[in-house]
Amino acid sequence: MTSPLLAVRDLRVRFATEGGVVKAVDGVSFDVERGRTLGIVGESGSGKSVTNLTLLGLHNPARTTVEGSAVLDGTELVGASERTLRDLRGQRVSMVFQDPLTALSPYYTVGAQIVETYRRHTGAGRREALDRAIEMLDRVGIPQAARRAREYPHLFSGGMRQRAMIAMALVCEPDLLIADEPTTALDVTVQAQILDLLGELQAQLGTAIILVTHDLGVVADVADEVLVMYAGRAVELGPATRVLETPKHPYTRGLLASVPRLSDPLDRPLRPVPGAPPSLLAPPPGCAFHPRCDQVIAGPGSPCRTRAPVLVGVGDSGHEAACHLEAGAGAAGVGSAERERERAQVPDAREGGKNP
Ligand SMILES: Nc1ncnc2c1ncn2[C@@H]1O[C@H](COP(=O)(O)OP(=O)(O)OP(=O)(O)O)[C@@H](O)[C@H]1O
Ligand SMILES: [Mg+2]
Repeated sequence: MTSPLLAVRDLRVRFATEGGVVKAVDGVSFDVERGRTLGIVGESGSGKSVTNLTLLGLHNPARTTVEGSAVLDGTELVGASERTLRDLRGQRVSMVFQDPLTALSPYYTVGAQIVETYRRHTGAGRREALDRAIEMLDRVGIPQAARRAREYPHLFSGGMRQRAMIAMALVCEPDLLIADEPTTALDVTVQAQILDLLGELQAQLGTAIILVTHDLGVVADVADEVLVMYAGRAVELGPATRVLETPKHPYTRGLLASVPRLSDPLDRPLRPVPGAPPSLLAPPPGCAFHPRCDQVIAGPGSPCRTRAPVLVGVGDSGHEAACHLEAGAGAAGVGSAERERERAQVPDAREGGKNP
């Protein structure tokens, strides 16, 4: 078996803040295969952006502690020198943000910014780089690319700016494109166009994509694999069809139940997952989702309240979930006994069953 393009193992990211230490990412592991798309979903604050910014080394090192490993095609990114990361960024990995205006400078023409990116990584001459920039703008569907290359970003519409951003991100044909909410700011028609465009470019260039989104419909359309994050941890991971069709974690099920469907009656109330995500300064003990979970195992010794669940296989094809209800499924002996007891909601004598 060939190794994945990106292998992230037990990634942990902590920020020192005035209020204390924020565990923004708390032991996340996943792979991204060449030419494939990993969708990362989860509510606001679950650590999606921090995970990806960490891969690019885009945190203030004085306030940030990063542990674990992230190997991109043989290169360890965690702890890599700024020089290594600078060389990788744009060339091997690049990023598209939600708001392209934060990534495009207002002071330079769109063409000049793509030229600059290309020249920095390839050492190409000005003329060659400009030709390449125009070719990329054309490829992402910007009409009259040669003329538009001479314009400043504010003259571009939101959708066109996002296309320009994608042109800039892909000009060096990186192995991995990280797209963090690339379409949230766009209307649905433009959103669909941008996603189609990413898919086409992926097919042409063989780029792997990490797509961060709130939108499970988008994940269903484009992702091969899905990582569901909650409070800085992976709660479910696996092939998109498995995770979306047979979700195993109560949180994933909650997210899916909150998605409106065309077949719903018009008066069906939207069902967001009740409650709010926890503070990452002081996350709840046990499973961070337990205060919002409608399937918490009852009893004083409930593992949901005392032990953080780890990802376990929940079927074939690499589908995994971190939920005590799933732990022990398929495992012999104590695992299944424990599971039965948990199901029956009988307090576990080993874990303080004396208490009411
Ligand atoms: N530089 C920082 N210093 C302190 N805390 C931070 C910093 N950056 C992010 N955080 C915190 O880390 C947590 C994870 O943030 P992150 O931006 O990864 O969330 P997200 O899943 O991308 O959310 P959204 O969907 O809103 O973009 C949040 O609680 C956030 O407040
Ligand atoms: Mg984010």
